Amino acid sequence: MLAIETRQVTKRYKGSARPALENVSLQVEAGQVFTLLGRNGAGKTTFVRMCATQLEPTSGQITVLGYDAVKQAREVRSLISVVPQEGRPLRALTPWDHVYNWLQIRGEDRQQARKKAETFLKKLELWEARDRPAMNLSGGMKQKVLVAMAMAADAQLLFLDEPTIGLDPVSRRQVWAAIKDWKARGGSILLTTHYMDEAEALSDYVVIIDRGTVVAQGTIPQLRKVIPQNTRIDIAKDGLDPDFLKSYGSVVDTGAGMLRVFAVESAVRELSELAIRRNLPFTVSPVTLDDVFVYLVGESVNSTSLSSSSSEENSSE
Ligand SMILES: Nc1ncnc2c1ncn2[C@@H]1O[C@H](COP(=O)(O)OP(=O)(O)O)[C@@H](O)[C@H]1O
Ligand SMILES: [Mg+2]
Repeated sequence: MLAIETRQVTKRYKGSARPALENVSLQVEAGQVFTLLGRNGAGKTTFVRMCATQLEPTSGQITVLGYDAVKQAREVRSLISVVPQEGRPLRALTPWDHVYNWLQIRGEDRQQARKKAETFLKKLELWEARDRPAMNLSGGMKQKVLVAMAMAADAQLLFLDEPTIGLDPVSRRQVWAAIKDWKARGGSILLTTHYMDEAEALSDYVVIIDRGTVVAQGTIPQLRKVIPQNTRIDIAKDGLDPDFLKSYGSVVDTGAGMLRVFAVESAVRELSELAIRRNLPFTVSPVTLDDVFVYLVGESVNSTSLSSSSSEENSSE
């Protein structure tokens, strides 16, 4: 069963020269963590908002849990839960108020709402802070309040748009654990992130998008194979001629006194032997998701795209 299916979806914001998304056709399996990975301005939030019925596509078709996201938006909304990228809890309300009231709004009776609020506040380690007004909570706790709200609501599909931006490492792990738990209970998740480690830790399937188009997709092992020379060796630079190394594969200076060669496994073996003979420090590893990203997009995930500006990004249509 598919959680989401998009066909040739294009979104062009009014007054923009370039579409934010162009001809995106994707299939999101239910019961999985499906990740959209891309730099700022790639089009992740635009995709999420269209699937979550907050924004209509300019053209193309979106089906969410079997319903048309435009024509049957009401049905879709009853089955999904969303943590928006720009979400903030209300200042004077406490974590308890947020989760408990939200469940009541969604139609749960008091006893059920109480039980669930407790479960999810505990799961995200917000129980101790349940009666503190949101304005007195740390950034990480505020974000966890939104995650707890979204997860407590009975939904089949959860949208998490960059849920761990700016979180401390501990809160981040708690959100990750809650995501794994949600999936283990049979839920589907559409996650967006620009963190490679997050994508690697959580995803069943990853779609790399850049400048509004899909660049590659697959499981993480499948994506690793996108790079033909899919083993890398970092060798201390001293006395090594980069031109000589180039005969083995593509060479990058890592800037830390090491040269990194991407090569096929047999070439890496030869280079390791050479390093041992010359007594040069070296490390060998498979390519990472970050390497794949740079290989495909030509730049690291942290370099922002030229066409986007953050002020634009948060404004409404
Ligand atoms: N409301 C808007 N009006 C005009 N342009 C927008 C709007 N929202 C986003 N954009 C533009 O669309 C592109 C994709 O943005 P977005 O979906 O927010 O990317 P991401 O979430 O990957 O950072 C960017 O170039 C951004 O500037
Ligand atoms: Mg975004």
